[in-house]
Amino acid sequence: MNGTKCKITSIVSYPERGEGGNNRYRGNCSPRLIEDLIGFFKPAEICDYMCGSGTTRAAAENLGIASRIYDLHSGFDIMNSDIQERPEFIFWHPPY
Ligand SMILES: C[S@@+](CC[C@H](N)C(=O)[O-])C[C@H]1O[C@@H](n2cnc3c(N)ncnc32)[C@H](O)[C@@H]1O
Repeated sequence: MNGTKCKITSIVSYPERGEGGNNRYRGNCSPRLIEDLIGFFKPAEICDYMCGSGTTRAAAENLGIASRIYDLHSGFDIMNSDIQERPEFIFWHPPY
């Protein structure tokens, strides 16, 4: 299940992880989840303010849409930073 024909459910499983991001990064998810969300909601751009290893960017590139990604590890602290753009669509995978 991937791309435009997906049905969104509250439980997902991707036995084949797909390409993009780093599955050794703590808390990383399959890029296929993000690709399915893009395929379902069809945003023109996706933003991620806790991007970790960059899975959101990879998913956006796989589907040919724009992305803006940020993280504490590259100097963006969401607790103390303004969000410059007014995003249409955000993928947010906070630390736990
Ligand atoms: C669960 S990981 C995200 C994993 C990511 N989806 C990926 O593709 O690898 C959570 C991320 O939140 C970032 N983070 C934690 N506190 C933050 C803060 N105050 N501002 C921005 N990013 C923060 C961490 O650096 C970490 O990369």
